[in-house]
Amino acid sequence: MKKLLHISLLVAALVMVQVVAAGEAGMPEVSTAEGSINIINLNDLEKEAARVLPRGAFGYVQGGAEDEVTMDANETSFNRVQIIPNGLTGLEGVSMKTRFLGIDLPSPVILAPMAAHGLVHRDADKATIRGTQKAGTIMAISTYSSVSIQDTVESAPNAPFLFQIYMSRDEGFNKHVLEQAKAAGARAIIITVDSGAPGNREADARNNYNYSMPTPIVMDYYDGENVTQSQARASRKVGFTGEDIRFVKQVTGLPVLVKGILSPEAAVQAVDAGADGIWVSNHGGRQMDAAPAAFDMLPLIAKAIGKRVPIIFDSGIRRGSHVFKALASGADVVAVGRPALYGLALGGSEGVADVFRHLNSELNTVMVLAGTENVEAVKRAKLFDPEKREIITRPVMPTVVTPVVTSVVRPVVICE
Ligand code: FNR
Ligand code: LAC
Repeated sequence: MKKLLHISLLVAALVMVQVVAAGEAGMPEVSTAEGSINIINLNDLEKEAARVLPRGAFGYVQGGAEDEVTMDANETSFNRVQIIPNGLTGLEGVSMKTRFLGIDLPSPVILAPMAAHGLVHRDADKATIRGTQKAGTIMAISTYSSVSIQDTVESAPNAPFLFQIYMSRDEGFNKHVLEQAKAAGARAIIITVDSGAPGNREADARNNYNYSMPTPIVMDYYDGENVTQSQARASRKVGFTGEDIRFVKQVTGLPVLVKGILSPEAAVQAVDAGADGIWVSNHGGRQMDAAPAAFDMLPLIAKAIGKRVPIIFDSGIRRGSHVFKALASGADVVAVGRPALYGLALGGSEGVADVFRHLNSELNTVMVLAGTENVEAVKRAKLFDPEKREIITRPVMPTVVTPVVTSVVRPVVICE
């Protein structure tokens, strides 16, 4: 089956005309920054990162699919609900502490898995994991990480991490990377199921950006032979079933989180097949444009799952208030994507840690003002719908979806 990759290596080599990476002519070099960064708000980081990153790298990180309608909606969707302040609770302080996968966290905010940290900083994932360790949170290592799992783990011994698999059509590959991740101490495996086809990202086309960075985790299976991200993508599994969830659980014995879920039906299918967590995400709007904002689907998915497993949420989290609203809409934990890479570019491991510290500080403020003393209270908090001028009763049940969720006929492949 290694043949599969060799064919794609050839095809990709033929179309690859330009290597866009750090150090291209006239572009800034890849960052080596290390030190605290001053953050007023996370959206500012994007502009600052644009100044220090090569154009192709920045476009790859920042861009979304096609017209970026979904990417933009991810953030604006949070504005459709509001948090009701309450100063009459007698609260003297709040605790953001939470526990996820048996790991104690200072707040319910973790890192989302992302490829190619090496595009934005010389120390790549090795700096990122030192950053998540400093912030006391969890790193997620992508299959397309810029360094080997071992190198990342050695950079921050004992730092908790999750491993995200882009399953290949080659079962030998899947087993190999899963065993590596397990041996290195991954606490859970994330299976990403929303990337059967690469998103149509026009920034990359405009910048002639070719996904040419090497993928050491993939390369390990191919005896060190250079495999770029674009080549690795060519052998990616396209369609998933419950069998894939069972396969990963059986190979690793680890909890499995299914990432890229946007429909209540798919969430139920995944849980029925043994998923230990549902990761609600539209990949930061990078995959299917015109998909719903992840936040809009969250309450429907939470209702369908009915607390059978935890929900992790990402896509568009930029504010402490977004974290609050996601938790109050059914999430147990939220994950941050792009802002962490901007933090990495601007301040290395300290920059990554600062992104989490900043979000946590905003969340703390919101929790105090809302009179919610801990994460469980946030999850119970009722949000306000300013359009309807009414308090949202949880779980949110838009009329169209309400009767459907449990009556859907599921494909046989998913449910035994
Ligand atoms: C991603 N994301 C991603 N997801 C995944 O499962 N595996 C991966 O390798 C990657 N790679 C990746 C690279 C880059 C540069 C970005 C920005 C994102 C998606 C990521 O996990 C997450 O879903 C989104 O980034 C969340 O949206 P925000 O926070 O970036 O808006
Ligand atoms: C991305 C892939 C690697 O979003 O998930 O670029």
